[in-house]
Amino acid sequence: MDLYEYQARDIFEAHGVPVLRAKVATTPEQAKEAATELGTPVVVVKAQVKTGGRGKAGGVKLAKSPEEAAQHAEQILGMDIKGHTVRKVMIAEGADIAEEYYFSILLDRTRRRYLAMFSKEGGVEIEKLAVEKPEALVRRNFTALEGLTEEIAREIAEQGGMTGEDIDKIVPVMQTLYKVYSEEDASLVEVNPLVKTGDGRIIALDGKVSLDDNAEFRHPEHAKLADPSSSDPLELKAKELDLNYVKLDGNVGVIGNGAGLVMSTLDVVAYAGEEFDSKPAPANFLDIGGGASAEVMANGLGVILGDEQVKSVFVNVFGGITACDEVANGIVNAFKILADQGVEPKPLVVRLDGNNADLGRRILEEANLPRVEMVGSMDDAARRAAEIAHQAGAGAPAGQA
Ligand SMILES: Nc1ncnc2c1ncn2[C@@H]1O[C@H](COP(=O)(O)OP(=O)(O)O)[C@@H](O)[C@H]1O
Ligand SMILES: [Mg+2]
Repeated sequence: MDLYEYQARDIFEAHGVPVLRAKVATTPEQAKEAATELGTPVVVVKAQVKTGGRGKAGGVKLAKSPEEAAQHAEQILGMDIKGHTVRKVMIAEGADIAEEYYFSILLDRTRRRYLAMFSKEGGVEIEKLAVEKPEALVRRNFTALEGLTEEIAREIAEQGGMTGEDIDKIVPVMQTLYKVYSEEDASLVEVNPLVKTGDGRIIALDGKVSLDDNAEFRHPEHAKLADPSSSDPLELKAKELDLNYVKLDGNVGVIGNGAGLVMSTLDVVAYAGEEFDSKPAPANFLDIGGGASAEVMANGLGVILGDEQVKSVFVNVFGGITACDEVANGIVNAFKILADQGVEPKPLVVRLDGNNADLGRRILEEANLPRVEMVGSMDDAARRAAEIAHQAGAGAPAGQA
């Protein structure tokens, strides 16, 4: 789960990361009140959307009076930033910025370590800096057992070109941000900019925090941070049904049993899609797991068919403990359940392999379901699903990415 900046700010504050006072507003009047209460000569009005580059998009504006704060809020609320509509603004104290740094901690999966990154040249697009001036970005791996020790933080700061007192001031802030990262079970904590003020203090002016959903059970207090309005409705529905579903941009729905098989199915569909001009691509990840009951299959199909972009669905099952005949019965029953619910079917390409595959195929043949085709191999099935999506969506966008 990604957090809004104001939520990240609250968490930072709770852990002792220096931040500025701030209030959230959903109307220009509230923005004016917030600015009055903050009472600083300058406040900043910041769009609260879960995407970066708000400053560049005109979503971060300084105001020298509560009236001006209201005017900026009026303008920023309702604004569209990279497809995200602004529904809240944060009114924060204006900072006297002397220098802007970049600091982040994230999970480095390939190295099985954490990764801290720091640059004295923050405030700009860090991706650009990483490409054009990689030497200006310090990268330091450390293990979960080590944690971000004072020694490591010091090395990072020194290597990044910090000197003297500045090092003594930034090191504890880095360590506190690591405390946020580890105690909150985050997968990303990013501060850009982490600033030095005119009077030499280090303050987190922006905050991006992603929480690891797998650690949800350890953090009942995180539930209240969820914002249904910012999530994809299909993902919400899938979550309610306890399905392993991730919405993607393409038009070929994918269902499989086992995360590994589904992952490779996505690759195969994407590869097959390359052949066609409209570039059909996977519309989702959906793993119905080992015991694919009719109900789970119906729930899964229901979510996928509810996706307007989906033009075809590829059901890729390798029978194991749950044999193919059970899955086939699941599909047949799923069609009944969906028909009862009035859900319109879409073309389904089914590939059954493994335990009791023949029996499974026979069941599907006999059921004679509308718009269901069986294809023998995974590659051929992917190609067929892509072909159907291509033909159905001729001229329609394959995705918005
Ligand atoms: N409280 C503040 N006081 C003064 N300037 C700020 C404040 N917050 C942000 N800024 C300025 O606005 C820029 C963009 O804000 P930021 O919060 O980083 O949004 P984004 O990263 O989405 O563009 C910062 O780099 C900083 O220069
Ligand atoms: Mg920023």
